[in-house]
Amino acid sequence: MSNPKRRLAVFCSGTGSNFVALHRAVAERGLGAEFVLCVSNRSQCGAMEFARGEGIETLHISEKQFDGPEAFALSMLQALRSRGVETVLLAGYMRKIPEEVTRAYRGNILNIHPALLPKFGGEGMYGIHVHTAVLKAGERESGATVHFVDEEYDRGEILLQGRVPVMAGDTPEVLAARVLECEHRLYPDALEKLLRESNG
Ligand code: GRF
Repeated sequence: MSNPKRRLAVFCSGTGSNFVALHRAVAERGLGAEFVLCVSNRSQCGAMEFARGEGIETLHISEKQFDGPEAFALSMLQALRSRGVETVLLAGYMRKIPEEVTRAYRGNILNIHPALLPKFGGEGMYGIHVHTAVLKAGERESGATVHFVDEEYDRGEILLQGRVPVMAGDTPEVLAARVLECEHRLYPDALEKLLRESNG
């Protein structure tokens, strides 16, 4: 008898290119998992469009829709639980995840960050700011990090890292594109690692 598929939710706010890479890997590598929910603070974005096109349920949820942070956190957690979500993947989600959710999914919630943590992480370190800071610091290499999410920004245990060179003449945009390509390989590898480890 085959095991039931592991139920995944992805959280995105933007283009969703990492989601696309993850989705492809789940299908092509036979990871025994499926995306059952795409959560976003934006009803219209590349990731939500992609989910709709693939027939994956979407949930637009933002704190503004609720009376306070507790109600928001409870509703988010309830949404995940009611769909039987077991693993949460943050892929370009630009909001802080409520602590109730990180606690409930400890060890089963991942994020990807476009730098080699613990360097260039923390508040304000997102998007192009990260790559600008890497160039300003004169780093010879950069990369991406997939890490477990806990209550602190970019501080959870590292699962996997990928490295890319910083080249002479790089602009933040050029470096960002090189790192993003690396992310598209890294995140599927990290998910595979997590799933294999959690399946014993
Ligand atoms: C990626 O660079 C990721 O590291 C960061 O946000 C970006 C998301 O890009 N957290 P996309 O939406 O997956 O294309």
